[in-house]
Amino acid sequence: MEIIVAHTAGFCFGVNRAVDSVYKNIGQQPLYTYGPIIHNPQVVGELREKNVIPVNSLDEVEEGTIIIRSHGVSKDVYDTINRKGLTYIDSTCPYVKRIHKIVDEYSKKGYQVMIVGDREHPEVQGISGWSNGETIIVEKTEDLEGLNLSKTKPICLVSQTTYREDRFESILKALKDHQYEVEGFNTICKATSDRQQEAVKIAKMVDKMIVIGGRDSSNTKKLYEICKKFCKETYHIETLEDLELNKFNSNDKIGITAGASTPARIIKEVITAMNDLENHGNESFEELLNQSF
Ligand code: F3S
Repeated sequence: MEIIVAHTAGFCFGVNRAVDSVYKNIGQQPLYTYGPIIHNPQVVGELREKNVIPVNSLDEVEEGTIIIRSHGVSKDVYDTINRKGLTYIDSTCPYVKRIHKIVDEYSKKGYQVMIVGDREHPEVQGISGWSNGETIIVEKTEDLEGLNLSKTKPICLVSQTTYREDRFESILKALKDHQYEVEGFNTICKATSDRQQEAVKIAKMVDKMIVIGGRDSSNTKKLYEICKKFCKETYHIETLEDLELNKFNSNDKIGITAGASTPARIIKEVITAMNDLENHGNESFEELLNQSF
């Protein structure tokens, strides 16, 4: 068995920074995070035990410190925090902050703001909240059909940081092909594109691919889709418990990658399990499945 682990697997710079800011402030009571600090139920559960409470609305917070996660928030969330006199720690990823600035600036200049991304994703909702006017959110080229876009107003096109680059590029091209005046900002984070490119490279080389990350993690889901294109046997798991070891055998070449919110500990557990599988050769898989790592 050969195991190839992506160098880019796991926490990116922005997530690392946000998670660090939480751990540094544990003990300050009460401590809240605006939404779960990362899309990883294991980490969020551990933090809850340390009295770090994720909230979905500022209505739930009357005092204490609130941490803004790497996804960032809309302008009105800062206004509410200030109005309520809450203390806040801003862990918005600087790459997301840059998008807020672009949207703020261009919407003030009269551009129509268009975001390429998952409309339900908190980062996209946060970005949308920096536009002065209506924001258009598109997920794929087909979403452009039927939109009532003004040709008299230029478009400012940005992307969710963790979105697929091919989708952003094809939407930008479609707008240009239809003679819209568009200022395109490819705001996809390099951490994401590096991770995706490395995943493609590995997926093309292996028999089976394991993608580790939270079920609700948008960047992990995209990583899975991309890998699946090049490696039919791609498995998305949240933790080692989801891994069906009997799907693997000792002749396999296996690739492992992980989303931006997957802790190193969980990745390590999976690698250890796969290495163990390799070391046990043809021994019964049952025996391996019963081991605790
Ligand atoms: Fe920031 Fe990129 Fe991570 S935008 S949160 S470093 S994926």
